[in-house]
Amino acid sequence: MADSITITDNRNGNTIEVPIVNGGVDAAQWSKLLPGVWFLDPSFGATASTQSAITDLDGENGILRYRGYPIEELAEKSTYLEVAYLLVHGDLPTSAEYEAWQYDITHHTFIHENMRKRFLDGFHYDAHPMGMLVSALAALSTFYPEAKDIDDREVRLKQIIRLIAKTPTIAAACHRFYAGLPFNYPDNELSFPENFLQMMWRVGDPKYDADPRLVRAIDILFMLHADHEQNCSTTAMRVIGSSHADPYSSAAGAAAGLYGPRHGGANEAVVRMLTSIGHMDNVGAFIDGVKSGSGRLQGFGHRVYKNYDPRAKIIKNAAYDVFEVTGKNPLLDVALKLEETALSDEYFISRKLYPNVDFYSGLIYQAMGFPIDFYPVLFAIPRMSGWCAHWNEMLDQNQRISRPRQVYTGAPVRGYVPIAQRI
Ligand code: CMC
Repeated sequence: MADSITITDNRNGNTIEVPIVNGGVDAAQWSKLLPGVWFLDPSFGATASTQSAITDLDGENGILRYRGYPIEELAEKSTYLEVAYLLVHGDLPTSAEYEAWQYDITHHTFIHENMRKRFLDGFHYDAHPMGMLVSALAALSTFYPEAKDIDDREVRLKQIIRLIAKTPTIAAACHRFYAGLPFNYPDNELSFPENFLQMMWRVGDPKYDADPRLVRAIDILFMLHADHEQNCSTTAMRVIGSSHADPYSSAAGAAAGLYGPRHGGANEAVVRMLTSIGHMDNVGAFIDGVKSGSGRLQGFGHRVYKNYDPRAKIIKNAAYDVFEVTGKNPLLDVALKLEETALSDEYFISRKLYPNVDFYSGLIYQAMGFPIDFYPVLFAIPRMSGWCAHWNEMLDQNQRISRPRQVYTGAPVRGYVPIAQRI
């Protein structure tokens, strides 16, 4: 049987055969047969918005691979910085390439003094750090006007390095502002995750010695969050970038997409939910509430995964390593009970709702002392490498500007009535 589909326009009997290539059909072929008839798919549930060679996600089988490498293997053997290189460049680096990459990232971690002293200091004292980050990313474009030269691959790579390197610095600066603590400058002697932790936590001492188990946990979390193909924020990055906006403005849009509780804000929502449940004994009543429509089980469900999110499995194990250092997060028992109850409940089984990446990550962040508002920022820091890889790929593909159609459902043509005559 041919690997194709046949579409027939029943209005006139016209027919077209469209090949199925890589699991997709070319919409341009459909348009030839059906000009002016649009596919209505508001949430892109059945639409592939692009071809991409970055992340391979099989949600039915719970598989996630970056550039062909299983996420489980990367989380065990790699580092975030190496994964960022892999996403951006397509292959794992050689020793020399890694050294150069590490040097470049390390030497672009500083931010302009005006950014910190004048821009970030201008926020309200209790500003949400995600709001600050979104604004700061957009503001970076004003410091690097050459970033507009998106046709020059070298210029593009320079901005990618800056974005990956500066996001943790901005993130930590947002936290220090909120906490009323002086800003810590980046330390070039430290690895990427260690440097981030010292910018967050160092007070008084000239050096910050992070527990290596916590450094590794952060590195693993960064790897797991680095990319997830065409999610809401990455799609925003590609859509904005398709207008040839500079990468800082595009990244600000992507970060705004990540902010919401249905996406990167879910880790924050999970901890708030677990806190409000408070005790294992209250889990049953909470689940009943979700089933009767009074809110969602945060950290559960996924548009693409209809199986256990492989990242959630890795995070659950990492959580135990972190708790060895920090002591067990008291909310863990509530989370475990919630997971067990949901996974054996027909409502969740029939809808294929499983824990996603955010179900356990918030517990780790809380145990490590990160403020709850800060959790989506911890997601944004590593996702920056994924956004940049997709932005770069989209430009390499010379993609046309994103411009979907709509199905108009408003009023038919009508005449203007002067205000005095309106009733
Ligand atoms: N709790 C209870 N019911 C749910 C949940 C949930 N977390 N998620 C989906 N459902 C139900 C939903 O009510 C619907 O039921 P019905 O068919 O009876 O109307 C069915 O499952 C399908 O839901 P949907 O809204 O069509 O699914 P979606 O693909 O549009 O939404 C989602 C995906 C992630 C937004 C959603 O599952 C959700 O809101 N989850 C909670 C928030 C969350 O954890 N988000 C983090 C996602 S992973 C990190 C990331 O990549 O950003």
